[in-house]
Amino acid sequence: MIIRAHDATRLAWPTDWDRQFGRSAPLHMEIGFGNAQFLIDWAIREPQANLIGIEISLPSIRKAESKIKNQKLTNTQVIHGNARLVLQSSLELETIDHLYINFPDPWHKAAHHHRKLINDQFLHLVATRMKPGGLLDIATDDAGYQEVITAALEQTPYFTSRTDETFATDDLERIRTKYELKALAVGRTCKYYKWQRNDTVAENIFPIPQELDMPHAVLTDPLSFDEMSARFSQQRYGGDTPVRLLRMYNSLTNDENQGTSLLVETHIAEDPLPQRVGLLIQKRTSGEILIGCSELGFPRPTHGVHTAVACLVHWILTLDPKTQVKHHNLNSPIPARS
Ligand SMILES: C[S@@+](CC[C@H](N)C(=O)[O-])C[C@H]1O[C@@H](n2cnc3c(N)ncnc32)[C@H](O)[C@@H]1O
Repeated sequence: MIIRAHDATRLAWPTDWDRQFGRSAPLHMEIGFGNAQFLIDWAIREPQANLIGIEISLPSIRKAESKIKNQKLTNTQVIHGNARLVLQSSLELETIDHLYINFPDPWHKAAHHHRKLINDQFLHLVATRMKPGGLLDIATDDAGYQEVITAALEQTPYFTSRTDETFATDDLERIRTKYELKALAVGRTCKYYKWQRNDTVAENIFPIPQELDMPHAVLTDPLSFDEMSARFSQQRYGGDTPVRLLRMYNSLTNDENQGTSLLVETHIAEDPLPQRVGLLIQKRTSGEILIGCSELGFPRPTHGVHTAVACLVHWILTLDPKTQVKHHNLNSPIPARS
């Protein structure tokens, strides 16, 4: 079996994990596996399960790949990327049997508190992807984070403690992680949350994103590229999917088939996958222009990418009242010309 890490932004929405592993088996997951020792030991202990590890750090992914290879593990795969993206996009509802989150980053500074992984919203997302009865284990040594996790678990309707308490201060049966051993060595107390998905239905307010056709629009009577470039400034569009048209680049070469083109670097603040894409404005021999999305960086053609093209079309329409939309395939409305 060839071992390789998946890129979270490239996985299918959703991913068929039984197919990825080549067998149907209970699905175990660890989020933020660090040096991967826990993940590997867990995989060895539970050969009957398929294990997925998710990590945002690339060096950690490389360590995991080499450990999986050395141990010849066929029941473990790792994903590079943000756990929230993987949970929402690449997992069917009610698929996870057991989830571990060991020592999530505490993000101490007040300005960074919003980056803490575990909060009410995250638990709701996890609840939609876990099987009823599935196990949720969280550990932390951080006093501030402990308060946040305790409050979130005590008020969630979707999980129930497997013990009489919210958390324990030791768990002799567990595999210790690198971070945990360091914390224990300097005398810090660790808190272990051993919870379980209950039967309360969790409404799926985190739909699996849809992949659409690549967006395009054709405009008649546009301004010249020189005029467009001269009039470009950063544009911000609000709404459900905020879009920023950041910079415009002019091509130096004159492609025989496509003529010159303008590239607009664009940021799309779409959940769960924010994207930075290049939107293309291309001249056609007829004098019309084609607005679309460059394949640079392999963008995922989401609703947000369609929205971004609609925003660029809007900006071009505002430059000259003569410019009209001839046709488009956008699934997002073009903002009205004001
Ligand atoms: C404090 S370390 C703990 C590592 C390991 N679990 C241990 O106990 O030794 C937290 C880990 O979570 C990873 N991480 C943080 N945010 C993440 C996210 N949103 N998705 C996936 N991994 C994340 C970090 O890269 C880091 O390796």
